[in-house]
Amino acid sequence: MIQRSITSAGEEHANFWNELADEYQTETRISITDFHYGPLLPGDTQLKLLPPDLSELTCLELGAGAGQNSIYLNKAGAHCTALDVSEKQLEHGRTLAARHIADVHFLHADIDELPPFEQNFDLIHSAYGIPFSSHPAALIQHCADLLKPGGQLLFSMGHPVYAGEWLELDEDQGIFMQSYFHPQPDVRESEDAAVQARAYPLSEVIAWIKEAGLHITDLREPAALPVDQMNEVEISMNVPYYSIAWAEQVKELSKFPVVAIFSAHKPLED
Ligand SMILES: C[S@@+](CC[C@H](N)C(=O)[O-])C[C@H]1O[C@@H](n2cnc3c(N)ncnc32)[C@H](O)[C@@H]1O
Repeated sequence: MIQRSITSAGEEHANFWNELADEYQTETRISITDFHYGPLLPGDTQLKLLPPDLSELTCLELGAGAGQNSIYLNKAGAHCTALDVSEKQLEHGRTLAARHIADVHFLHADIDELPPFEQNFDLIHSAYGIPFSSHPAALIQHCADLLKPGGQLLFSMGHPVYAGEWLELDEDQGIFMQSYFHPQPDVRESEDAAVQARAYPLSEVIAWIKEAGLHITDLREPAALPVDQMNEVEISMNVPYYSIAWAEQVKELSKFPVVAIFSAHKPLED
């Protein structure tokens, strides 16, 4: 039996997300027929960052929540492990996967204390899981070590600009930032726990990726889709991650990127 440990920050995150999981999964509409990167954003059907052929790929998802992206990949023929520190989020994932007859291995683990894996992966992916890491540079290095040659690391992080504060000033509005180089953390509190998701300057994340020996192959800063001008059917067909609370921020998200999406590849061996 493999011993896995959870860091003290991981335990705090688990408490927070266990409390929030039911509400998060009920109030957020997350697609399993497209691959999402963040709220109100186009999915991979439009952004096309995933490999074109997903069949038989071995995939690992970090901070998976209920693993909707892993379910999507499995439905396209990939072999998927979805990892999260919150048992409640994983419980939602197991139920969802069973309902959609998907075969995803849901794994309880901390991104900052990854367990050993029996195999390396073709694709390691994460939609807004890495911002919860206490050591994101080390995590990216760990991902690079876990990739097969030619494998892809694909993840979204909070965009540093979105860490600013939205201000309405007379007839104008925009974002106020104290410092681009030290973005304010996204602090989330529940009754019994508090967690931080951190944003970093884009150049810092790119430096971690390069130091890990990966080649940056894409960087995207997508704008929100105009959900205020779309009907329910259009939203459900085109917006893979949606909630009413996020829809109220469409004005902000159509002017400033809420996440940055990084795609990097491990070089093929000579
Ligand atoms: C914003 S949610 C995103 C979930 C999922 N990727 C999605 O798009 O719905 C962040 C997820 O990261 C997980 N998480 C937070 N800290 C973690 C840690 N230290 N190790 C593993 N997962 C963690 C949370 O439990 C939560 O499910």
